[in-house]
Amino acid sequence: MKTDRNKPLALPHPGRVVLYVLPLPVALLFLSLGFVLGMTTSTASFQNLYFPFVTPSPSANKPSPPTSSLPPMSSAMHNMTDEELFRWASTAPRLDGTPYHRVPKVAFMFLVRGDLPLRPLWERFFEGHEGLYSIYVHANPSYTGSPPRGSVFHGRTIPSQRTAWGGVTLVEAERRLLANALLDLGNERFALLSESCIPLYNFPTVRAVLTGSGGASFVESIATPARYRPLFAARSNVSVERWRKGSQWFEVDRALAAEAVADGTYFPTFRENCAGERFCVADEHYMPTLASVLGWGRRNANRTLTFADWDPKRRTGSHPRTHGAEELTEELIGRIRRGGTRGNCTFNDGASGVCFLFARKFAPDTLEPLLRLAPKAMGFG
Ligand SMILES: *[C@@H]1O[C@H](CO)[C@@H](O)[C@H](O)[C@H]1NC(C)=O
Ligand SMILES: *[C@@H]1O[C@H](CO)[C@@H](O)[C@H](O)[C@H]1NC(C)=O
Ligand SMILES: *[C@@H]1O[C@H](CO)[C@@H](O)[C@H](O)[C@H]1NC(C)=O
Ligand SMILES: *[C@@H]1O[C@H](CO)[C@@H](O)[C@H](O)[C@H]1NC(C)=O
Repeated sequence: MKTDRNKPLALPHPGRVVLYVLPLPVALLFLSLGFVLGMTTSTASFQNLYFPFVTPSPSANKPSPPTSSLPPMSSAMHNMTDEELFRWASTAPRLDGTPYHRVPKVAFMFLVRGDLPLRPLWERFFEGHEGLYSIYVHANPSYTGSPPRGSVFHGRTIPSQRTAWGGVTLVEAERRLLANALLDLGNERFALLSESCIPLYNFPTVRAVLTGSGGASFVESIATPARYRPLFAARSNVSVERWRKGSQWFEVDRALAAEAVADGTYFPTFRENCAGERFCVADEHYMPTLASVLGWGRRNANRTLTFADWDPKRRTGSHPRTHGAEELTEELIGRIRRGGTRGNCTFNDGASGVCFLFARKFAPDTLEPLLRLAPKAMGFG
């Protein structure tokens, strides 16, 4: 079948005035970002919108034309179900270079329980860089607190579900964050962070490394049979050779983010594998294995940009060391920036000069020393 590439949005019943209703915030978001390619400001072409999966509604037939004066979407909250959200996000353009001009943004996706104890540090990090980043927060739904008005975190919580440590619900939350962030076409890089993460460099450096990485994603990827089950071969054709393990904390590009959100092949098997098992650690296997089975090859740097101290003398069981206020020095930050105990930070063959962009885990009491050290040790604030 031949497709007219200039007219991908055909009205199925010409002449009938039908508006395909999308959830309002998403509609505004997409329109304000130019999701509908080639759209003009005329009402006629607005009615030509056709999204096959959206139920037509005859109720509204006088849509106001989209204009550039639409207010920016300040809230990340919406009323879509996960199913609707994933359907939408799966249709969002995957590649950079969509035919309109924009400045590539970095999506900072915070997967947290509730409070963000280090929020003031991040606020200083983001200050003055509006328009170059987006923030998304996935918190335990029972959490009722909110960052104060005026904070860049205010209203950035997405509709969230309960998660359990070591469970597949963590991967669900990660995919939910990615799906929300994909809806903003300006987002080109997607970094997953926790409430105990800190930035190690100032914003321009972090953004430059992420957007200038030649399209590489940073998903730690270690070949190991650990936690592999034959179920993965049976259901999804994932052999043990292609099975991977890695840090949960990833930084990916749009293409890999979109694969994770649209994945109907591998994720269902991860979910099945975790059924009835509280501790399946899917969060340490899903993204690395996805990149592996998709043949991501050199488009994955195979390492994470988020430092954690796993030294056996300093870690506690299955958790890396939590840094407390008493050990916070410029020297510690410098050591972590240089690669901590790991030392080798090659980046697609060449030395990038930057080993890690973020680090965990930092206890709430490190806020004050971090704010004090940030100008000298991290270059902001
Ligand atoms: C969600 O729906 C409720 C009730 O229909 C409405 O009051 C609320 O404003 C909606 N929220 C968003 C973000 O659209
Ligand atoms: C299964 O995966 C292998 C690579 O490990 C590939 O060569 C083969 O074509 C796949 N089979 C199917 C049915 O997808
Ligand atoms: C990452 O690992 C894959 C194998 O899983 C390899 O093909 C690829 O070249 C590696 N990426 C880099 C940047 O070396
Ligand atoms: C560190 O990277 C270099 C390449 O830049 C490599 O030759 C060397 O083997 C690596 N060392 C370790 C311990 O991985």
